[in-house]
Amino acid sequence: MAARLSLNDVNLHFGGVKVLQEVGFEVEPGSILGLVGPNGAGKTSLFNCISGHYQPSSGSITIDGTEAIRRSPAHLARLGLSRTFQHPALQLRATVLENVLLGGHIRLPGGPLEWALGLPRTARAEREIRAEALAMLDGAGLGWAAGLPADELSHGLHKGIELWRALLSRPSLLLLDEPAAGLSHGEVEQLITTVKQVRDERDITIIVVEHHMGLISALTDRVVVLDHGRKLMEGTAAEAQSDPRVIEAYIGKDAADDAA
Ligand SMILES: Nc1ncnc2c1ncn2[C@@H]1O[C@H](COP(=O)(O)OP(=O)(O)OP(=O)(O)O)[C@@H](O)[C@H]1O
Ligand SMILES: [Mg+2]
Repeated sequence: MAARLSLNDVNLHFGGVKVLQEVGFEVEPGSILGLVGPNGAGKTSLFNCISGHYQPSSGSITIDGTEAIRRSPAHLARLGLSRTFQHPALQLRATVLENVLLGGHIRLPGGPLEWALGLPRTARAEREIRAEALAMLDGAGLGWAAGLPADELSHGLHKGIELWRALLSRPSLLLLDEPAAGLSHGEVEQLITTVKQVRDERDITIIVVEHHMGLISALTDRVVVLDHGRKLMEGTAAEAQSDPRVIEAYIGKDAADDAA
């Protein structure tokens, strides 16, 4: 089931630095929300708060009504949350398949003791997850790369591995942090097709942070614009792109006045 995410009055302070201030919005189950804003606006920090990597100073973040603040990333993953990172976090010496399989670990039944004993139900689940990972790589035209060390692949393929790894956990809430960064035009088009397919075929809620406005326009139902840690506005991608406050945040007030 796709998750409903609610943020209320989220504040994140590091010492005296206010990284997020009074951020609040809702993400409807099954929708794609774009989170945009200039460099340093607080987008990745907000993802870190949702995924349990940062603890907000105050506020509330609920996933299907369950408070997510003060839960560990591992706990939130079990609640259905999965994410990719702005800078791909891969095991570069491990193979592409091994990297993708890390995402399936959460689906193994039982706990570490049972896994160590290699019980039949663990072995069966491992076979299923492995077959699904190989099918995903094949479907993406990456079957040839499954056995190669990840460090032999391009940056674009590293981004792909992160996405397949995140999907293998079968998340109900997926956070994508700049999935198009560093990709060629053709790779971005492929990414847009893939994410649309994921949305159509799976029951999933997605938040995507991106500077690539073409991708944001093509994929999102709504966007939230952050600036200096605050929510500047919320609406459709088209509304955001024509909003004077957003234009000013991106290019500065003087330039926005000149452009008017
Ligand atoms: N662990 C931390 N300690 C101190 N300051 C931090 C920490 N993490 C983030 N910040 C600060 O929070 C602000 C927002 O950073 P963040 O990485 O969230 O921005 P962003 O919107 O993701 O930017 P970009 O588009 O460049 O990725 C920055 O000023 C950053 O220096
Ligand atoms: Mg960032």
